[in-house]
Amino acid sequence: MDRNLALEAVRVTEAAALSSARLMGLGDEKQADQAAVDAMRKAFNGVKIKGTVVIGEGERDEAPMLYIGEKVGSGDLPEVDIALDPLEGTTICATGGANALSVIAIGKKDSFLHAPDTYMEKIAVGPKAKGVINLNKSPSDNLKVIADAYNCYVQDLTVVILDRPRHENLIKEVRKSGARIKLIMDGDVSAGMATAIPDSGVDVLMGIGGAPEGVLAAAALQCVGGDIQGRLKPRNDQEAERARSMGVKNLDKVFTIEELAKGDDIMFAATGVTNGDLLKGVRFFRGGADTHSIVMRSKSRTVRFIEAKHHFDFKPDYNA
Ligand code: FBP
Repeated sequence: MDRNLALEAVRVTEAAALSSARLMGLGDEKQADQAAVDAMRKAFNGVKIKGTVVIGEGERDEAPMLYIGEKVGSGDLPEVDIALDPLEGTTICATGGANALSVIAIGKKDSFLHAPDTYMEKIAVGPKAKGVINLNKSPSDNLKVIADAYNCYVQDLTVVILDRPRHENLIKEVRKSGARIKLIMDGDVSAGMATAIPDSGVDVLMGIGGAPEGVLAAAALQCVGGDIQGRLKPRNDQEAERARSMGVKNLDKVFTIEELAKGDDIMFAATGVTNGDLLKGVRFFRGGADTHSIVMRSKSRTVRFIEAKHHFDFKPDYNA
């Protein structure tokens, strides 16, 4: 593909971020998500692609828009697969927390694992530790090889883990190994990306989060030379069956980054909804707003940060 479609997709993530950011802190996750979905769906109409959503808002019967299999874009070539999350971190947005994003990854047909909406165990690192991680090994063994690769002590590493009861043993083991921990309430796509960005203060992502989010993090990490492995963790028989029906025969399989997001031409765009480690959130001013986005492509390894000033007519209705 000649065009860097992420440069066009960023207008779509900007639209979703601008819409959902209006609802920051209002305590309504569903409304914030819906605002992002509506804006993203509409903005896709202006992108000249024949896109198929492969990671989206869920199955057709449960998501009216941006569902798996939905066609998006103008219908013109090129034909591409799309992994997206209009609002990654719905609770973050609803509470005004850190690291909510709007995300789109684009690749050729069959670039992305068709991950079911279940959990995935993940380990992600930046480029220096590419090739050394192994999800079949213990967290402490992984931290040792990661520290070697970064040429530092395990005690110098910062590991991001979602703050969940299911991570009690993982947290104990990481603490015992000596590494520092940053517990986050939500948003492991942003945390996965941060492992590959110098000065983010994050070296490793470990633990169980959403499977679709694992594919999105893999797409981002492909663009910057990082690494991630993932293993599906269905919560019940129904989810396990769904994974099998989507082609995952062996549920213990460890997926490599190449299997999560094939690397030869992945394009990735994300816009900050709320302030985060990597991206600033949307800032409104009278008659407009600023957005901060990242645009990346695996083919060239180009990473662009795009700050945009948007102007629109918006008059708050104080009597509503
Ligand atoms: P949503 O945007 O769907 O709310 O996901 C937020 C998130 O924190 C993800 O970043 C993470 O992968 C997943 O939820 C973790 O799931 P759970 O909250 O069930 O532990």
